[in-house]
Amino acid sequence: TILSTPIHDAESSADQEVASGKEDSILTNRQGHPIDNNQSMRTVGSRGPTTLENYDFIEKITHFDRERIPERVVHARGAGAHGYFETYGKVGDEPVSKYTRARLFQEKGKQTPVFVRFSTVIHGKDSPETLRDPRGFAVKFYTEDGNWDLVGNNLKVFFIRDAIKFPDFIHAFKPDPVTNIQDGERIFDFIMHTPESLLTITFLFSPWGIPANYRQMQGSGVNTYKWVNSQGEAVLVKYHWEPKQGIKNLTQQEADQIQGKNFNHATQDLYQAIESGNYPEWELCIQMMSDDEHPELDYDPLDDTKLWPPDKFPFLPVGRMVLNRNPENYFAEVEQASFGTGVLVDGLDFSDDKMLQGRTFSYSDTQRYRVGPNYLQLPINAPKKHVATNQRDGQMTYQVGGAPGQNPHVNYEPSSLGGLKEAARTGKEYTPWVEGNLTRQTIERTNDYKYAGERYREFEDWERDDLINNLVNTLRTCSPHIQQTMTELFSKCDPDYGRRVAEGLASAGRANADTEFGGPLGSSHTAEAVTEAER
Ligand code: HEM
Repeated sequence: TILSTPIHDAESSADQEVASGKEDSILTNRQGHPIDNNQSMRTVGSRGPTTLENYDFIEKITHFDRERIPERVVHARGAGAHGYFETYGKVGDEPVSKYTRARLFQEKGKQTPVFVRFSTVIHGKDSPETLRDPRGFAVKFYTEDGNWDLVGNNLKVFFIRDAIKFPDFIHAFKPDPVTNIQDGERIFDFIMHTPESLLTITFLFSPWGIPANYRQMQGSGVNTYKWVNSQGEAVLVKYHWEPKQGIKNLTQQEADQIQGKNFNHATQDLYQAIESGNYPEWELCIQMMSDDEHPELDYDPLDDTKLWPPDKFPFLPVGRMVLNRNPENYFAEVEQASFGTGVLVDGLDFSDDKMLQGRTFSYSDTQRYRVGPNYLQLPINAPKKHVATNQRDGQMTYQVGGAPGQNPHVNYEPSSLGGLKEAARTGKEYTPWVEGNLTRQTIERTNDYKYAGERYREFEDWERDDLINNLVNTLRTCSPHIQQTMTELFSKCDPDYGRRVAEGLASAGRANADTEFGGPLGSSHTAEAVTEAER
Protein backbone atom coordinates (compact mmCIF):
# COMPACT_ATOMS: atom_id res chain seq x y z
CA THR A 1 0.00 0.00 0.00
CA ILE A 2 1.13 3.56 -0.59
CA LEU A 3 -0.87 4.84 2.36
CA SER A 4 1.21 6.06 5.29
CA THR A 5 -1.50 5.17 7.83
CA PRO A 6 -2.90 1.70 7.17
CA ILE A 7 -6.69 2.01 6.85
CA HIS A 8 -7.43 -0.84 9.25
CA ASP A 9 -5.35 0.64 12.04
CA ALA A 10 -7.16 3.93 11.58
CA GLU A 11 -10.51 2.17 11.99
CA SER A 12 -9.59 0.32 15.11
CA SER A 13 -8.12 3.37 16.78
CA ALA A 14 -11.31 5.29 15.96
CA ASP A 15 -13.31 2.50 17.59
CA GLN A 16 -11.18 2.83 20.68
CA GLU A 17 -11.67 6.58 20.83
CA VAL A 18 -15.44 6.20 20.53
CA ALA A 19 -15.37 3.56 23.23
CA SER A 20 -13.39 5.88 25.46
CA GLY A 21 -16.03 8.55 24.83
CA LYS A 22 -13.71 11.06 23.16
CA GLU A 23 -15.99 13.75 21.76
CA ASP A 24 -13.95 14.54 18.64
CA SER A 25 -14.37 11.16 17.03
CA ILE A 26 -18.16 11.07 17.22
CA LEU A 27 -19.79 11.13 13.77
CA THR A 28 -22.02 14.17 13.22
CA ASN A 29 -23.78 15.81 10.32
CA ARG A 30 -22.60 19.20 9.09
CA GLN A 31 -24.89 20.97 11.55
CA GLY A 32 -23.04 19.25 14.41
CA HIS A 33 -25.89 16.88 15.25
CA PRO A 34 -24.59 13.46 16.41
CA ILE A 35 -25.42 10.62 14.01
CA ASP A 36 -26.46 7.53 15.94
CA ASN A 37 -27.48 5.49 12.92
CA ASN A 38 -25.44 5.76 9.75
CA GLN A 39 -26.71 2.44 8.32
CA SER A 40 -30.41 2.95 7.60
CA MET A 41 -32.49 5.73 6.09
CA ARG A 42 -35.63 6.73 7.98
CA THR A 43 -38.50 4.71 6.46
CA VAL A 44 -42.10 3.77 7.20
CA GLY A 45 -41.50 0.30 8.58
CA SER A 46 -38.38 -1.69 7.77
CA ARG A 47 -39.24 -2.01 4.06
CA GLY A 48 -39.97 1.65 3.24
CA PRO A 49 -41.08 3.94 1.68
CA THR A 50 -38.71 6.68 2.78
CA THR A 51 -39.74 10.10 4.03
CA LEU A 52 -38.58 13.49 2.79
CA GLU A 53 -37.93 15.11 6.17
CA ASN A 54 -34.93 12.79 6.51
CA TYR A 55 -32.39 15.59 7.02
CA ASP A 56 -29.31 13.48 7.76
CA PHE A 57 -29.76 11.35 4.65
CA ILE A 58 -30.54 14.32 2.42
CA GLU A 59 -27.58 16.30 3.69
CA LYS A 60 -25.29 13.31 3.13
CA ILE A 61 -26.49 12.40 -0.34
CA THR A 62 -26.76 15.95 -1.66
CA HIS A 63 -23.24 16.72 -0.50
CA PHE A 64 -22.04 13.55 -2.20
CA ASP A 65 -23.84 14.63 -5.38
CA ARG A 66 -21.70 17.79 -5.37
CA GLU A 67 -18.33 16.17 -4.56
CA ARG A 68 -16.79 16.98 -7.91
CA ILE A 69 -15.87 20.34 -9.30
CA PRO A 70 -15.13 20.82 -13.00
CA GLU A 71 -11.74 19.38 -13.78
CA ARG A 72 -9.09 21.68 -15.22
CA VAL A 73 -9.74 22.22 -18.93
CA VAL A 74 -6.06 21.34 -19.45
CA HIS A 75 -3.60 19.71 -17.03
CA ALA A 76 -6.44 17.81 -15.33
CA ARG A 77 -4.31 14.86 -14.16
CA GLY A 78 -1.82 15.85 -11.50
CA ALA A 79 0.03 15.19 -8.28
CA GLY A 80 1.32 17.67 -5.72
CA ALA A 81 3.68 18.14 -2.79
CA HIS A 82 4.79 20.76 -0.29
CA GLY A 83 8.34 21.90 0.33
CA TYR A 84 10.57 24.93 0.42
CA PHE A 85 12.69 27.11 -1.84
CA GLU A 86 16.07 28.30 -0.56
CA THR A 87 17.80 31.23 -2.25
CA TYR A 88 21.55 31.42 -2.90
CA GLY A 89 21.32 35.25 -2.65
CA LYS A 90 23.32 35.36 -5.88
CA VAL A 91 22.71 34.97 -9.57
CA GLY A 92 25.75 33.17 -10.85
CA ASP A 93 28.58 35.13 -9.16
CA GLU A 94 26.76 38.43 -8.78
CA PRO A 95 24.49 39.59 -5.97
CA VAL A 96 20.91 38.95 -6.99
CA SER A 97 19.91 42.48 -5.90
CA LYS A 98 21.72 43.84 -8.96
CA TYR A 99 18.88 42.40 -11.08
CA THR A 100 15.81 41.92 -8.88
CA ARG A 101 14.55 43.38 -5.66
CA ALA A 102 12.18 40.42 -5.08
CA ARG A 103 12.69 39.73 -1.39
CA LEU A 104 12.50 35.95 -1.56
CA PHE A 105 15.79 35.89 -3.52
CA GLN A 106 17.85 38.32 -1.45
CA GLU A 107 19.33 36.84 1.69
CA LYS A 108 21.43 33.69 1.16
CA GLY A 109 19.82 30.68 2.86
CA LYS A 110 16.38 32.26 3.23
CA GLN A 111 13.61 29.68 2.85
CA THR A 112 10.17 30.25 1.33
CA PRO A 113 7.44 27.58 1.60
CA VAL A 114 6.21 26.19 -1.74
CA PHE A 115 3.50 23.94 -3.09
CA VAL A 116 4.15 22.19 -6.41
CA ARG A 117 1.70 20.50 -8.76
CA PHE A 118 2.95 18.29 -11.58
CA SER A 119 0.55 17.27 -14.32
CA THR A 120 -0.11 15.91 -17.77
CA VAL A 121 -1.91 18.20 -20.20
CA ILE A 122 -4.43 16.73 -22.55
CA HIS A 123 -6.44 13.92 -21.03
CA GLY A 124 -8.85 13.76 -18.11
CA LYS A 125 -8.39 13.74 -14.39
CA ASP A 126 -7.82 9.98 -14.06
CA SER A 127 -5.99 9.32 -17.33
CA PRO A 128 -2.76 7.24 -17.50
CA GLU A 129 0.45 9.01 -16.54
CA THR A 130 2.44 7.29 -19.29
CA LEU A 131 0.97 9.29 -22.17
CA ARG A 132 3.01 11.31 -24.63
CA ASP A 133 2.27 14.81 -23.45
CA PRO A 134 4.16 17.75 -21.96
CA ARG A 135 4.22 17.64 -18.15
CA GLY A 136 3.12 20.63 -16.09
CA PHE A 137 5.44 21.93 -13.36
CA ALA A 138 3.61 24.62 -11.37
CA VAL A 139 5.16 26.13 -8.25
CA LYS A 140 3.42 28.37 -5.73
CA PHE A 141 5.87 30.34 -3.55
CA TYR A 142 4.21 31.62 -0.36
CA THR A 143 6.54 34.63 0.01
CA GLU A 144 6.56 37.35 2.65
CA ASP A 145 5.23 39.71 -0.04
CA GLY A 146 2.38 37.41 -1.01
CA ASN A 147 2.24 34.57 -3.52
CA TRP A 148 4.35 34.07 -6.61
CA ASP A 149 3.28 31.34 -9.05
CA LEU A 150 5.76 30.01 -11.59
CA VAL A 151 3.56 27.96 -13.94
CA GLY A 152 5.81 25.94 -16.18
CA ASN A 153 6.20 22.74 -18.16
CA ASN A 154 8.95 20.12 -18.38
CA LEU A 155 9.69 21.07 -22.00
CA LYS A 156 11.36 24.46 -22.40
CA VAL A 157 9.44 25.48 -25.52
CA PHE A 158 5.79 25.59 -26.57
CA PHE A 159 3.74 24.77 -29.68
CA ILE A 160 2.34 28.22 -30.44
CA ARG A 161 3.38 31.81 -29.88
CA ASP A 162 0.05 33.64 -29.86
CA ALA A 163 -2.53 33.03 -27.14
CA ILE A 164 -5.46 33.33 -29.55
CA LYS A 165 -4.43 29.96 -31.01
CA PHE A 166 -4.52 28.11 -27.68
CA PRO A 167 -8.15 26.86 -27.76
CA ASP A 168 -7.66 25.51 -31.33
CA PHE A 169 -4.36 23.89 -30.43
CA ILE A 170 -5.90 22.19 -27.40
CA HIS A 171 -9.04 21.11 -29.30
CA ALA A 172 -6.87 19.44 -31.95
CA PHE A 173 -4.99 17.44 -29.30
CA LYS A 174 -8.00 16.61 -27.13
CA PRO A 175 -10.19 13.63 -28.07
CA ASP A 176 -12.30 13.95 -31.21
CA PRO A 177 -15.71 15.43 -30.28
CA VAL A 178 -17.48 12.54 -32.06
CA THR A 179 -15.43 9.47 -31.15
CA ASN A 180 -13.96 10.78 -27.87
CA ILE A 181 -10.58 9.35 -28.95
CA GLN A 182 -7.38 11.34 -29.46
CA ASP A 183 -6.64 11.29 -33.17
CA GLY A 184 -3.35 11.88 -34.99
CA GLU A 185 -5.30 12.98 -38.07
CA ARG A 186 -6.75 15.97 -36.22
CA ILE A 187 -3.45 16.76 -34.51
CA PHE A 188 -1.32 16.79 -37.64
CA ASP A 189 -4.07 18.56 -39.58
CA PHE A 190 -3.53 21.42 -37.11
CA ILE A 191 0.24 21.07 -36.90
CA MET A 192 0.79 21.17 -40.65
CA HIS A 193 -0.71 24.67 -40.56
CA THR A 194 1.35 25.61 -37.50
CA PRO A 195 5.03 25.25 -38.40
CA GLU A 196 6.12 27.22 -35.32
CA SER A 197 5.26 24.05 -33.35
CA LEU A 198 7.95 21.91 -35.04
CA LEU A 199 10.61 22.26 -32.35
CA THR A 200 8.14 21.30 -29.62
CA ILE A 201 6.75 18.47 -31.80
CA THR A 202 10.32 17.20 -32.22
CA PHE A 203 10.71 17.05 -28.45
CA LEU A 204 7.22 15.63 -27.91
CA PHE A 205 7.60 12.65 -30.23
CA SER A 206 11.07 11.85 -28.92
CA PRO A 207 11.55 10.17 -25.51
CA TRP A 208 11.39 13.72 -24.03
CA GLY A 209 7.63 13.48 -24.62
CA ILE A 210 7.29 10.83 -21.88
CA PRO A 211 9.25 11.71 -18.72
CA ALA A 212 9.81 8.58 -16.62
CA ASN A 213 8.26 10.23 -13.54
CA TYR A 214 7.83 13.67 -12.02
CA ARG A 215 11.03 13.62 -9.95
CA GLN A 216 13.41 13.03 -12.84
CA MET A 217 12.28 15.80 -15.12
CA GLN A 218 13.14 19.44 -15.67
CA GLY A 219 10.79 22.36 -15.35
CA SER A 220 10.74 25.62 -17.27
CA GLY A 221 8.73 28.82 -17.12
CA VAL A 222 8.82 28.70 -20.98
CA ASN A 223 7.58 32.27 -21.36
CA THR A 224 9.81 35.30 -20.86
CA TYR A 225 9.47 37.36 -17.68
CA LYS A 226 11.36 40.34 -16.30
CA TRP A 227 13.36 41.00 -13.20
CA VAL A 228 13.26 44.55 -11.84
CA ASN A 229 15.82 46.00 -9.43
CA SER A 230 15.39 48.77 -6.87
CA GLN A 231 16.41 51.43 -9.43
CA GLY A 232 13.47 50.35 -11.58
CA GLU A 233 15.73 48.72 -14.22
CA ALA A 234 14.63 45.52 -15.91
CA VAL A 235 16.20 42.50 -17.62
CA LEU A 236 14.47 39.69 -19.52
CA VAL A 237 14.60 36.30 -17.76
CA LYS A 238 13.62 32.68 -18.33
CA TYR A 239 13.32 30.22 -15.45
CA HIS A 240 14.52 26.61 -15.42
CA TRP A 241 14.29 23.85 -12.78
CA GLU A 242 17.08 21.26 -13.01
CA PRO A 243 16.42 17.98 -11.13
CA LYS A 244 19.15 16.78 -8.73
CA GLN A 245 17.77 13.28 -9.39
CA GLY A 246 18.88 13.50 -13.03
CA ILE A 247 16.62 13.38 -16.09
CA LYS A 248 14.96 10.17 -17.23
CA ASN A 249 12.66 9.72 -20.21
CA LEU A 250 10.89 6.66 -21.62
CA THR A 251 10.76 5.15 -25.06
CA GLN A 252 7.25 4.36 -26.26
CA GLN A 253 7.89 0.69 -25.64
CA GLU A 254 8.95 1.25 -22.04
CA ALA A 255 5.92 3.46 -21.47
CA ASP A 256 3.58 0.80 -22.92
CA GLN A 257 5.00 -1.75 -20.51
CA ILE A 258 4.47 0.46 -17.46
CA GLN A 259 0.99 1.45 -18.58
CA GLY A 260 -0.06 -2.18 -18.87
CA LYS A 261 0.51 -2.58 -15.14
CA ASN A 262 0.10 0.84 -13.55
CA PHE A 263 -1.50 4.01 -14.81
CA ASN A 264 -0.63 6.03 -11.69
CA HIS A 265 3.08 5.35 -11.64
CA ALA A 266 4.21 9.00 -11.50
CA THR A 267 1.88 9.99 -8.66
CA GLN A 268 2.88 6.85 -6.78
CA ASP A 269 6.60 7.47 -7.35
CA LEU A 270 6.37 11.03 -5.99
CA TYR A 271 4.25 10.05 -2.99
CA GLN A 272 6.41 7.10 -2.04
CA ALA A 273 9.69 8.99 -2.44
CA ILE A 274 8.51 11.71 -0.08
CA GLU A 275 6.97 9.23 2.41
CA SER A 276 10.27 7.37 2.59
CA GLY A 277 12.28 10.57 3.19
CA ASN A 278 13.84 10.54 -0.27
CA TYR A 279 13.03 14.19 -0.90
CA PRO A 280 13.29 15.32 -4.53
CA GLU A 281 15.26 18.49 -5.17
CA TRP A 282 15.66 20.90 -8.08
CA GLU A 283 18.00 23.81 -8.68
CA LEU A 284 16.40 26.98 -10.02
CA CYS A 285 18.44 28.61 -12.79
CA ILE A 286 17.69 31.67 -14.83
CA GLN A 287 18.79 32.82 -18.23
CA MET A 288 19.08 36.56 -18.64
CA MET A 289 19.09 39.07 -21.52
CA SER A 290 19.01 42.83 -21.73
CA ASP A 291 15.48 44.15 -22.15
CA ASP A 292 15.34 44.99 -25.84
CA GLU A 293 14.48 43.40 -29.18
CA HIS A 294 17.93 41.92 -29.84
CA PRO A 295 18.07 42.52 -33.61
CA GLU A 296 21.36 40.57 -33.70
CA LEU A 297 19.47 37.29 -33.04
CA ASP A 298 17.73 35.33 -35.80
CA TYR A 299 14.72 34.74 -33.51
CA ASP A 300 12.62 36.97 -31.31
CA PRO A 301 13.61 36.61 -27.66
CA LEU A 302 9.91 36.75 -26.66
CA ASP A 303 9.02 33.82 -28.94
CA ASP A 304 8.20 30.86 -26.69
CA THR A 305 8.65 28.37 -29.53
CA LYS A 306 12.41 29.00 -29.30
CA LEU A 307 15.13 28.18 -26.79
CA TRP A 308 17.60 30.81 -25.69
CA PRO A 309 20.82 28.94 -26.52
CA PRO A 310 22.67 28.24 -23.26
CA ASP A 311 26.09 28.95 -24.79
CA LYS A 312 25.01 32.57 -25.39
CA PHE A 313 22.73 32.90 -22.37
CA PRO A 314 24.11 30.62 -19.67
CA PHE A 315 22.03 28.97 -16.95
CA LEU A 316 22.72 30.90 -13.74
CA PRO A 317 21.79 29.15 -10.48
CA VAL A 318 19.70 31.23 -8.03
CA GLY A 319 18.42 28.70 -5.49
CA ARG A 320 17.14 25.22 -4.81
CA MET A 321 13.79 23.62 -4.03
CA VAL A 322 13.11 20.56 -1.89
CA LEU A 323 9.76 18.74 -1.72
CA ASN A 324 9.41 17.11 1.68
CA ARG A 325 5.71 16.78 2.57
CA ASN A 326 2.83 15.01 0.92
CA PRO A 327 -0.63 16.60 0.87
CA GLU A 328 -2.97 15.43 3.62
CA ASN A 329 -5.94 15.54 1.30
CA TYR A 330 -5.70 15.28 -2.47
CA PHE A 331 -8.87 17.19 -3.24
CA ALA A 332 -8.42 20.07 -0.80
CA GLU A 333 -4.85 20.70 -1.78
CA VAL A 334 -3.98 19.31 -5.21
CA GLU A 335 -7.34 19.53 -6.96
CA GLN A 336 -8.26 22.97 -5.64
CA ALA A 337 -4.76 24.44 -6.04
CA SER A 338 -4.96 27.36 -8.44
CA PHE A 339 -1.83 28.69 -10.14
CA GLY A 340 -1.60 31.60 -12.54
CA THR A 341 1.04 33.47 -14.49
CA GLY A 342 -0.34 36.81 -13.27
CA VAL A 343 0.65 36.03 -9.70
CA LEU A 344 3.96 37.89 -9.33
CA VAL A 345 5.59 39.75 -6.42
CA ASP A 346 7.42 43.07 -6.38
CA GLY A 347 10.71 42.76 -8.31
CA LEU A 348 9.24 40.30 -10.86
CA ASP A 349 7.34 41.47 -13.93
CA PHE A 350 5.77 40.43 -17.21
CA SER A 351 7.47 40.73 -20.56
CA ASP A 352 5.57 41.66 -23.73
CA ASP A 353 5.43 37.93 -24.68
CA LYS A 354 1.92 37.66 -26.18
CA MET A 355 1.44 34.12 -24.95
CA LEU A 356 2.23 35.13 -21.40
CA GLN A 357 -0.28 37.95 -21.51
CA GLY A 358 -3.01 35.67 -22.87
CA ARG A 359 -2.22 33.06 -20.24
CA THR A 360 -2.35 35.62 -17.49
CA PHE A 361 -5.99 36.42 -18.25
CA SER A 362 -6.93 32.76 -18.68
CA TYR A 363 -5.77 31.22 -15.38
CA SER A 364 -7.67 33.28 -12.83
CA ASP A 365 -10.65 33.44 -15.19
CA THR A 366 -10.94 29.64 -15.28
CA GLN A 367 -10.34 29.37 -11.53
CA ARG A 368 -13.22 31.72 -10.71
CA TYR A 369 -15.37 29.25 -12.62
CA ARG A 370 -13.64 25.97 -11.72
CA VAL A 371 -13.12 26.52 -8.00
CA GLY A 372 -15.29 29.59 -7.38
CA PRO A 373 -14.90 33.35 -7.03
CA ASN A 374 -13.45 33.01 -3.54
CA TYR A 375 -10.80 30.42 -4.52
CA LEU A 376 -8.12 32.58 -2.92
CA GLN A 377 -9.66 32.07 0.53
CA LEU A 378 -8.88 28.33 0.43
CA PRO A 379 -5.86 27.44 2.60
CA ILE A 380 -3.87 25.99 -0.35
CA ASN A 381 -4.26 29.20 -2.38
CA ALA A 382 -4.26 31.84 0.37
CA PRO A 383 -1.00 33.71 0.93
CA LYS A 384 0.71 32.83 4.21
CA LYS A 385 0.77 36.48 5.16
CA HIS A 386 -1.73 39.18 6.06
CA VAL A 387 -4.40 39.78 3.41
CA ALA A 388 -6.61 42.85 3.70
CA THR A 389 -8.93 43.87 0.92
CA ASN A 390 -12.20 45.70 0.41
CA GLN A 391 -13.38 42.97 -1.94
CA ARG A 392 -16.40 41.39 -0.28
CA ASP A 393 -18.91 38.56 -0.42
CA GLY A 394 -19.60 36.19 -3.30
CA GLN A 395 -20.27 32.47 -3.21
CA MET A 396 -18.71 30.56 -0.30
CA THR A 397 -17.15 33.56 1.44
CA TYR A 398 -16.00 32.66 4.90
CA GLN A 399 -13.59 35.50 5.64
CA VAL A 400 -14.75 39.08 5.90
CA GLY A 401 -11.62 40.19 4.09
CA GLY A 402 -10.65 43.16 6.23
CA ALA A 403 -7.79 43.59 8.67
CA PRO A 404 -7.87 43.34 12.46
CA GLY A 405 -8.58 46.84 13.77
CA GLN A 406 -10.14 47.92 10.48
CA ASN A 407 -13.41 49.80 11.00
CA PRO A 408 -15.91 47.12 9.89
CA HIS A 409 -18.18 49.80 8.44
CA VAL A 410 -15.52 50.93 5.98
CA ASN A 411 -15.17 48.55 3.04
CA TYR A 412 -13.97 51.24 0.66
CA GLU A 413 -10.84 53.34 0.14
CA PRO A 414 -9.95 56.19 0.61
CA SER A 415 -11.54 56.94 3.97
CA SER A 416 -10.84 58.97 7.11
CA LEU A 417 -12.84 56.53 9.29
CA GLY A 418 -10.34 53.76 9.89
CA GLY A 419 -10.27 51.90 6.55
CA LEU A 420 -7.38 50.26 4.75
CA LYS A 421 -4.56 52.41 3.41
CA GLU A 422 -2.38 52.05 0.30
CA ALA A 423 1.04 50.52 0.85
CA ALA A 424 4.25 52.53 0.54
CA ARG A 425 6.15 51.83 -2.71
CA THR A 426 9.18 49.63 -2.08
CA GLY A 427 11.39 50.64 -5.02
CA LYS A 428 11.41 52.86 -8.05
CA GLU A 429 8.45 52.11 -10.27
CA TYR A 430 9.27 50.28 -13.46
CA THR A 431 7.61 52.23 -16.30
CA PRO A 432 8.51 50.79 -19.71
CA TRP A 433 7.77 52.96 -22.74
CA VAL A 434 5.27 51.39 -25.15
CA GLU A 435 4.19 52.71 -28.54
CA GLY A 436 2.99 51.28 -31.81
CA ASN A 437 -0.08 50.79 -33.99
CA LEU A 438 -2.75 48.48 -32.66
CA THR A 439 -2.64 45.58 -35.08
CA ARG A 440 -3.10 41.84 -35.57
CA GLN A 441 0.21 40.56 -36.85
CA THR A 442 2.63 37.73 -36.41
CA ILE A 443 6.12 38.52 -35.19
CA GLU A 444 8.80 39.20 -37.82
CA ARG A 445 11.57 36.72 -36.98
CA THR A 446 9.57 33.48 -37.15
CA ASN A 447 12.43 31.15 -38.16
CA ASP A 448 10.21 28.07 -37.75
CA TYR A 449 12.49 25.30 -39.05
CA LYS A 450 16.12 25.90 -38.15
CA TYR A 451 16.00 25.01 -34.46
CA ALA A 452 13.87 21.90 -34.93
CA GLY A 453 16.55 20.70 -37.36
CA GLU A 454 19.29 21.54 -34.89
CA ARG A 455 17.48 19.62 -32.16
CA TYR A 456 17.01 16.65 -34.49
CA ARG A 457 20.77 16.53 -35.12
CA GLU A 458 21.62 16.98 -31.43
CA PHE A 459 19.54 14.01 -30.23
CA GLU A 460 21.36 10.80 -29.44
CA ASP A 461 20.77 7.98 -31.95
CA TRP A 462 18.26 6.12 -29.78
CA GLU A 463 16.30 9.34 -29.24
CA ARG A 464 16.22 10.07 -32.98
CA ASP A 465 15.17 6.47 -33.75
CA ASP A 466 12.35 6.66 -31.22
CA LEU A 467 11.28 10.07 -32.60
CA ILE A 468 10.99 8.72 -36.16
CA ASN A 469 9.21 5.60 -34.99
CA ASN A 470 6.67 7.55 -32.94
CA LEU A 471 6.01 10.05 -35.71
CA VAL A 472 5.54 7.28 -38.24
CA ASN A 473 3.20 5.35 -35.96
CA THR A 474 0.95 8.37 -35.59
CA LEU A 475 1.29 9.79 -39.13
CA ARG A 476 0.46 6.46 -40.76
CA THR A 477 -3.10 6.90 -39.48
CA CYS A 478 -3.33 10.29 -41.27
CA SER A 479 -4.60 11.22 -44.74
CA PRO A 480 -1.99 11.22 -47.54
CA HIS A 481 -2.04 15.03 -47.94
CA ILE A 482 -1.25 15.43 -44.23
CA GLN A 483 1.56 12.86 -44.43
CA GLN A 484 2.93 14.65 -47.48
CA THR A 485 2.87 18.12 -45.93
CA MET A 486 4.36 16.94 -42.65
CA THR A 487 7.18 15.18 -44.50
CA GLU A 488 7.91 18.41 -46.38
CA LEU A 489 7.96 20.39 -43.15
CA PHE A 490 10.34 17.93 -41.47
CA SER A 491 12.57 18.14 -44.58
CA LYS A 492 12.73 21.91 -44.18
CA CYS A 493 14.03 21.32 -40.63
CA ASP A 494 16.62 18.81 -41.83
CA PRO A 495 16.58 16.82 -45.10
CA ASP A 496 17.46 13.63 -43.20
CA TYR A 497 14.53 14.19 -40.79
CA GLY A 498 12.03 14.38 -43.68
CA ARG A 499 13.63 11.50 -45.54
CA ARG A 500 13.44 9.15 -42.56
CA VAL A 501 9.80 9.99 -41.85
CA ALA A 502 8.94 9.46 -45.53
CA GLU A 503 10.77 6.13 -45.64
CA GLY A 504 9.17 5.03 -42.41
CA LEU A 505 5.72 5.84 -43.78
CA ALA A 506 6.44 4.04 -47.04
CA SER A 507 7.51 0.86 -45.30
CA ALA A 508 4.84 0.93 -42.58
CA GLY A 509 2.00 1.39 -45.06
CA ARG A 510 -1.03 3.45 -44.32
CA ALA A 511 -3.35 2.32 -41.56
CA ASN A 512 -6.90 1.53 -42.64
CA ALA A 513 -8.55 4.91 -42.31
CA ASP A 514 -12.05 3.43 -41.92
CA THR A 515 -11.24 1.45 -38.84
CA GLU A 516 -7.99 2.80 -37.53
CA PHE A 517 -7.93 6.23 -36.06
CA GLY A 518 -6.52 7.74 -32.96
CA GLY A 519 -5.10 5.99 -29.97
CA PRO A 520 -2.27 7.25 -27.82
CA LEU A 521 0.21 9.46 -29.67
CA GLY A 522 3.20 7.54 -30.98
CA SER A 523 1.79 4.20 -29.88
CA SER A 524 2.19 1.28 -32.24
CA HIS A 525 -1.07 -0.38 -31.15
CA THR A 526 -2.84 0.74 -34.28
CA ALA A 527 -0.15 -0.63 -36.52
CA GLU A 528 -0.16 -3.98 -34.72
CA ALA A 529 -3.93 -4.25 -35.03
CA VAL A 530 -3.72 -3.74 -38.78
CA THR A 531 -0.97 -6.30 -39.14
CA GLU A 532 -3.04 -8.80 -37.15
CA ALA A 533 -6.07 -8.21 -39.37
CA GLU A 534 -4.04 -8.56 -42.54
CA ARG A 535 -2.55 -11.87 -41.49
C1 HEM B 1 -3.16 25.00 -16.66
C2 HEM B 1 -4.46 28.12 -20.09
C3 HEM B 1 -0.06 27.89 -22.04
C4 HEM B 1 1.42 25.44 -18.17
C5 HEM B 1 -3.91 25.81 -17.47
C6 HEM B 1 -5.30 26.06 -17.30
C7 HEM B 1 -5.66 26.94 -18.25
C8 HEM B 1 -4.50 27.25 -19.03
C9 HEM B 1 -7.05 27.52 -18.48
C10 HEM B 1 -6.19 25.44 -16.22
C11 HEM B 1 -5.96 26.18 -14.92
C12 HEM B 1 -6.84 25.74 -13.80
O1 HEM B 1 -7.93 25.20 -14.04
O2 HEM B 1 -6.45 25.98 -12.64
C13 HEM B 1 -3.37 28.34 -20.89
C14 HEM B 1 -3.35 29.23 -22.03
C15 HEM B 1 -2.13 29.14 -22.60
C16 HEM B 1 -1.36 28.21 -21.79
C17 HEM B 1 -4.52 30.07 -22.48
C18 HEM B 1 -1.57 29.81 -23.81
C19 HEM B 1 -2.04 30.94 -24.26
C20 HEM B 1 0.75 27.24 -21.14
C21 HEM B 1 2.18 27.16 -21.23
C22 HEM B 1 2.58 26.46 -20.13
C23 HEM B 1 1.41 26.13 -19.35
C24 HEM B 1 3.06 27.76 -22.32
C25 HEM B 1 3.98 26.11 -19.73
C26 HEM B 1 4.83 27.02 -19.44
C27 HEM B 1 0.31 25.12 -17.44
C28 HEM B 1 0.34 24.31 -16.24
C29 HEM B 1 -0.98 24.18 -15.82
C30 HEM B 1 -1.80 24.90 -16.75
C31 HEM B 1 1.55 23.72 -15.57
C32 HEM B 1 -1.47 23.38 -14.62
C33 HEM B 1 -1.39 24.19 -13.35
C34 HEM B 1 -1.84 23.33 -12.19
O3 HEM B 1 -1.11 22.38 -11.87
O4 HEM B 1 -2.90 23.60 -11.64
N1 HEM B 1 -3.43 26.53 -18.54
N2 HEM B 1 -2.15 27.75 -20.76
N3 HEM B 1 0.32 26.62 -20.00
N4 HEM B 1 -0.99 25.47 -17.72
FE1 HEM B 1 -1.53 26.64 -19.21
